[in-house]
Amino acid sequence: MSEKLSTQPYKGTRDFYPAEMRLRNWFFGVIRTVLEGAAFEEYNGPMLESLDLYAAKSGEELAEKQTYHFMDKGNRHLAIRPEMTPTVARMVAAKMNDLAFPLKWFSIPNMYRYEATQRGRLREFWQLNVDIFGCETYEADLECILTAIRLLRAFGADETMFTVRINNRRFFNDAIRAITEKDEEGCRLISKVIDRKNKVPREVYEKELTELGLSSGQIAKIDGLYSMSVEEAAALCPESTGAQELLGLFEALRALKLDRYCVFDFGIIRGLDYYTGTVFEVFDNAPENNRAMFGGGRYDNLVGLFVKNAKVSGVGFGMGDVTLENFLFTHKLVPESFGKEAKLLITRFEDVNTETYFALSGKLADCGIVNAVYLGSAKKFGKQIDYAVKAGFTHLLVMGATELAAGAVKIKDLAARTETEVSVGADLNCAELAKLLKS
Ligand code: HAM
Repeated sequence: MSEKLSTQPYKGTRDFYPAEMRLRNWFFGVIRTVLEGAAFEEYNGPMLESLDLYAAKSGEELAEKQTYHFMDKGNRHLAIRPEMTPTVARMVAAKMNDLAFPLKWFSIPNMYRYEATQRGRLREFWQLNVDIFGCETYEADLECILTAIRLLRAFGADETMFTVRINNRRFFNDAIRAITEKDEEGCRLISKVIDRKNKVPREVYEKELTELGLSSGQIAKIDGLYSMSVEEAAALCPESTGAQELLGLFEALRALKLDRYCVFDFGIIRGLDYYTGTVFEVFDNAPENNRAMFGGGRYDNLVGLFVKNAKVSGVGFGMGDVTLENFLFTHKLVPESFGKEAKLLITRFEDVNTETYFALSGKLADCGIVNAVYLGSAKKFGKQIDYAVKAGFTHLLVMGATELAAGAVKIKDLAARTETEVSVGADLNCAELAKLLKS
């Protein structure tokens, strides 16, 4: 083979070099702190699942068009997970009798979808999943929505930067049935068109609804719902359980003063088939990030796919790392000090034995100072400085035989171009040094 292999990763996937990895670890760290503080517990599952898991309830777009799947050597039809919800429902179903409900779990797995790649949408992404199982009432819906808000606030975001758009599948079906007199399947087909509303031109939207048998009057009535408040919309179907659920949820959000982040939006459907009640999406208010950042809702019957007559409802959401990263950079929410923490290179001289440098390095690490001993030749000091600058070290430690004998080392601050002498004594005590580097 004469042609060289490409150094580019597969389309829609990313290489995480240390700088990107550091950023991702930082924001996952913030997320874990918020969730663990609210007593959510972390779980994980396998990357490969039976394809049937998605065929059952994820909806045809995800299961048929976007899932990577293959036959294994034992003729099992497998999928690389395109989402986590069927996996977590399977895990809950498998241990239903041992788990304490309501259950509050989270996970940050990577997943794959065969998508047309664009800003905010890739083929491999990481997705935070937050789910509550075993709570039938609105409290779990409320907790999911307030957790989504809390997560964004933990990064310093405020209500000018994002909006939580909320609807309810039961209400949606009741309202569409009242306007169009369609049966369940008819309502489902209409929901698919409304779900795509913002992704296609208006003419296409109207044509698709007309093909489903809707008159222009009925289309206009649906249009009216898009700009209604939750009270106005609920008044159209006062008997609807979904309308009552929506009203109760908004009342709680108002009482918690979270309504400033939230709006009722009849256009929020969610493409996945398993949702049955509350549905919501979180949008970045910056127009350049126009894809949903979070999506979720209540699904009352997924666990029942695995256990006959099981009644464990779930509600949760997924949030992708790609849209979160776009959000954080667009709104300047990545701290300026990020990635600029002190990092010390211990330079080496031929007149000090190598073990002494490693002993010093260990003591510095014990004091919480990120440091490394220079691993190249000790002969040329200039080369060591060049390496330190290129590798992102902020400080140099200089300790030749003279400094060692005097029990004092020199610290060079590479950005400020200053030099400070610090006493370490004969036993290489690093307390003073640590104080200087942490200040
Ligand atoms: P989803 O709407 O398919 O829901 O995805 C949720 C979020 O994952 C999206 O809002 C977006 O941030 C991110 N996401 C989805 N596809 C991509 C992609 N191709 N590239 C980058 N990010 C993406 C679900 O997956 C549900 N299982 C969420 C859920 C959990 N519902 C209940 N619990």
